[in-house]
Amino acid sequence: MAAEKWVYMVTAQTPTNIAVIKYWGKRDEVRILPVNDSISVTLDPDHLCTVTTVAVSPSFDRDRMWLNGKEISLSGSRYQNCLREIRGRAGDVEDKEKGVKIDKKDWEKLHLHIASHNNFPTAAGLASSAAGFACLVFSLAKLMNVDEDASHLSAIARQGSGSACRSLFGGFVKWEMGSKDDGSDSIAVQLADEKHWNDLVIIIAVVSSRQKETSSTSGMRESVETSLLLQHRAKEVVPKRTLQMEEAIKNKDFASFTQLSCADSNQFHAVCLDTSPPIFYMNDTSHRIISLVEKWNRSEGTPQVAYTFDAGPNAVLIARNRKVAVQLLQGLLYYFPPKSDTDMKSYVVGDNSILKEAGLDGANSVENLQPPPEIKDNIGSQDQKGEVSYFICTKPGRGPVVLPDQTQALLDPETGLPK
Ligand code: DP6
Repeated sequence: MAAEKWVYMVTAQTPTNIAVIKYWGKRDEVRILPVNDSISVTLDPDHLCTVTTVAVSPSFDRDRMWLNGKEISLSGSRYQNCLREIRGRAGDVEDKEKGVKIDKKDWEKLHLHIASHNNFPTAAGLASSAAGFACLVFSLAKLMNVDEDASHLSAIARQGSGSACRSLFGGFVKWEMGSKDDGSDSIAVQLADEKHWNDLVIIIAVVSSRQKETSSTSGMRESVETSLLLQHRAKEVVPKRTLQMEEAIKNKDFASFTQLSCADSNQFHAVCLDTSPPIFYMNDTSHRIISLVEKWNRSEGTPQVAYTFDAGPNAVLIARNRKVAVQLLQGLLYYFPPKSDTDMKSYVVGDNSILKEAGLDGANSVENLQPPPEIKDNIGSQDQKGEVSYFICTKPGRGPVVLPDQTQALLDPETGLPK
């Protein structure tokens, strides 16, 4: 290491993902090894992502991290496991222009600064740990010149948070549970990229909730300890369902995709109810949204919209194409209108060009919406103002990328401290 002044850094962006075959239950709590395979859709990082800048400098005296602008501790075992695994694979790095020369063996002694930011509110209950740990591992791998493919990196991200391993890829992703005790075969693989099935449109209803939710980590631990349904699901149901879901994705078979996603989401929530004490993640609003979608799919004769719910009340709705998504949004806004003082552009975020297509970009237009005829009077009246905080319109998206534009870095290139 020459002139000891430099700060060397990398900034990366990583998407979040939504499981359509759920991961719920670990067979090894430390290595984070699951009891079944899972499959997810990566969400467009333009709308939901984590950006992380990682920096190294001989002037840093300890590892530090800032999350959404606030310093947090890195002492937890999940962070420590990821840092140890990635440091163990670090390579030589040289940047002549900056006078940076790091030998492989130097990484053990050098300290890191890490700054991470989500482009969506953490409080919204969207899977921030998935994008966060995937971004941490991906950006460190780039900084440290780690020569491993995305699947190998996924096995490291998995040790930060299970669902994070699936965020190392874009499109449609499978986390293979693996069978080895050391977890080396518990990795994510890409089933198809984001262009494969690009008709799909995803609308997320961020459902208001006052209730403090059980974290996924402790919830799934309790399910493993007490739910017999979880054992049956992992042994008998998910292995078959995973194969069927892979086929549905390969063939872009929306009817099967919907049937499998909805059934799997419902079974995951049934496992939560089968846990002692029972865990309630969905609320009345979630149930009303399920009703709306089920009734609509039934009346159309063939499925138009799939739904899935994670460890919270938010609905993730996957429409078979843009035309269906426009109708879906109109139906959702009819039943869940914004409060009167809310601007439509802050009520429908992400790809909000859909508002124009739905004829809803003007003032007061929500009041003119007609109830969807086939589900009229079936899910209650239009009195659910405030039940949904906002909607996010998005689509399947790409995997992690390095952001070469230095202006997007979250750390100052001179001091290595948050900007
Ligand atoms: C319901 O990955 O958050 O979202 O591995 O303990 O960090 P840990 O749990 P986490 O669990 C995600 C559970 C889920 C389903 C899924 O994403 O597959």
